Amino acid sequence: MRIDIITVVPELLQSPFQHSIIKRAQEKGLVEIHLHNLRDYTDTKYRQVDDYQFGGGAGMVLQIEPIDKCISKLQLERDYDDIIYVTPDAPVLKQSTANSLSLHKNIIILTGHYKGVDQRVRELFITKEISIGDYVLSGGELAAAVLCDAIIRLIPGVLGDETSALTDSFQDGLLAPPVYTRPAEYKGLKVPDILLSGNFPKIEEWRHEEAEKRTKKIRPDLI
Ligand code: ADE
Repeated sequence: MRIDIITVVPELLQSPFQHSIIKRAQEKGLVEIHLHNLRDYTDTKYRQVDDYQFGGGAGMVLQIEPIDKCISKLQLERDYDDIIYVTPDAPVLKQSTANSLSLHKNIIILTGHYKGVDQRVRELFITKEISIGDYVLSGGELAAAVLCDAIIRLIPGVLGDETSALTDSFQDGLLAPPVYTRPAEYKGLKVPDILLSGNFPKIEEWRHEEAEKRTKKIRPDLI
């Protein structure tokens, strides 16, 4: 999979992809991540890519021209399955969206800054809009990092133990059940006997019941 990210602050996106699972996914050739500085697509003085909004009001808006130049250049090089804009005024990211995006070959992620992008960018280029939650970040870069992480770990071969993504929270519409590791008892707190029983069908049953209990209590909206 290839992910092209368009941003005005590429520095913000360097570290999230240089460690752990995402780093190994790139080393294994399972994903390529390319950062594009929007300021490289303007000839204006001071490499300005934003301007005041028509109609007045606080906050700058990213202009259409540099975004058009950047996306059009990328589209000449390859076809894209989706051109995604990360923004708080969009449907909230779900595990099911990450699942389907992980099957794509090439995607572009456009990150907003300040007041966001000129509406015509959204109408002309964007095929999918995603928010990572009902709160506002200072820019779309961290949202793009979250989205990439959620997608990349689902690409076959990225996680060593393939089943571990399948047993994540949300994969079956439920939160994950509780997990324990050694010691079996700590300061009087015991691991549930069933997990030490070696009876794997019963363990699976217990895990499912616990996942349901947890989901009903914490996220009844998912049921
Ligand atoms: N940019 C700023 N806030 C955001 C959010 N919650 N989701 C996606 N992009 C954003």
